[in-house]
Amino acid sequence: MGYGRTRAGTWAGFQAPRGECVDVDAGPGGAGGAGVMRLATEPDRREQGQGSPGQGAQRKEPETRPRAFSGIQSSGRLHIGNYLGAMRPQVALQKTHDAFYAVVDYHALTSVHDASELRRLTREAALDYLAVGLDPEQSTLFRQSDVPLHTDLCWVLATVTPLSWCVHLPTFKDKKKDQAGDVNLGLLSYPVLQAADIIMYKAVAVPVGKDQVPHIEFAREVVRRFNSIYGETFPEPQAVLGSAPLVLGIDGTRKMSKSLKNHIEIFASREELCARVGTMVTDTEKVRRGDPGHPGRCNVFSLHRHFRPESAGAAQGAGGGAEGGPGELAADLAEISASCTEGKLGCVECKRRLAGVIDAHLAPLRERRAELATRPGRVDEILAACAARATRVAAATMDEVRAKTGLGRITYGVAGGGAGGR
Ligand code: AMP
Ligand code: TRP
Repeated sequence: MGYGRTRAGTWAGFQAPRGECVDVDAGPGGAGGAGVMRLATEPDRREQGQGSPGQGAQRKEPETRPRAFSGIQSSGRLHIGNYLGAMRPQVALQKTHDAFYAVVDYHALTSVHDASELRRLTREAALDYLAVGLDPEQSTLFRQSDVPLHTDLCWVLATVTPLSWCVHLPTFKDKKKDQAGDVNLGLLSYPVLQAADIIMYKAVAVPVGKDQVPHIEFAREVVRRFNSIYGETFPEPQAVLGSAPLVLGIDGTRKMSKSLKNHIEIFASREELCARVGTMVTDTEKVRRGDPGHPGRCNVFSLHRHFRPESAGAAQGAGGGAEGGPGELAADLAEISASCTEGKLGCVECKRRLAGVIDAHLAPLRERRAELATRPGRVDEILAACAARATRVAAATMDEVRAKTGLGRITYGVAGGGAGGR
């Protein structure tokens, strides 16, 4: 069991100490403003999820690491944008934080109204995250609806949240367009439930992609409001962005997204992956093979960079692997940049090399996912054990909230039978 693994958080992965804001505006992928931090380093795949998943799912209390929380949308087929923007930073954070990651099926219910489909998507999301390196010995991975206290807290927060905050959120306006035939009340209160998710665990760090920053800012406002009415109760959470907070799609201009169909799936086969990378739009000013290119303006080059986490790799001193060690990869990157700029490297060859690097990175993840899929019972066990731990923490928070707001005191049951259950 992984009980001995807990230790005081060092915030080792950060450029700024907790509570401080750093300038994270790093070009097109950057995002600035209060409440946003940047993760300095991320692991490459060699150090992700090395242990067999699910030995522990419990840990020695009290846990002293600072808390992190993130929600995992169970909307199917994850892409490289999800991976680089959210999953990789989430996996990185579990080293320094007591991380709670929930497959947010209550949120999914705002757009999925088919029971077996919702169960399937929830299970798939849990598998995806275990496959990319989420380690249930270090993190608490649970299904949101197994801890129904989230909706309890959501209601309390709804009563201190001005309606106008929800109505004017750009993400609500987008959702109204995306699902014009189903603009339900849940869509409006979506960010309130998201705030409840985070503060239930008094999380200070929320690893997400850039598009989620408005929701974290919203949660901070809700916290201020609650604390000003009922007294200091919750810390203000901060969004934590990884090195690729906004990944562009194969069109090279818009955010990579499943709905825009400009995505590259992370669990696609090698053939599909190569085909998708082959259709990527490159530097539009480089028309012929011999034209000088501009790597800084090319989305293909930016993916070359994101799949070579030089700083993390160098710090670990990791080496070997099918696609070469970190030093080799960094040298390779410099060579690609130089030969593209000089007009020696053609875009077709550049993309062929990119597909190779991505495939070498993702192949072990695909294998791990396939292996996990053969053990559904194991995934259920992990989710159930983690839900029990999440419920213990959530119950303590709700005791406090109920006492402060004047609601009744109750005894909490522990739900959770795995994603396949019921
Ligand atoms: P979604 O698939 O939109 O539910 O997003 C799941 C997580 O992935 C969120 O934290 C998003 O911010 C992040 N994400 C989604 N698309 C991208 C992208 N193109 N680039 C970076 N992060 C992304
Ligand atoms: N809205 C997030 C997304 O679309 C999912 C989510 C739900 C979440 N609750 C959360 C993210 C709490 C961070 C923290 O990806």
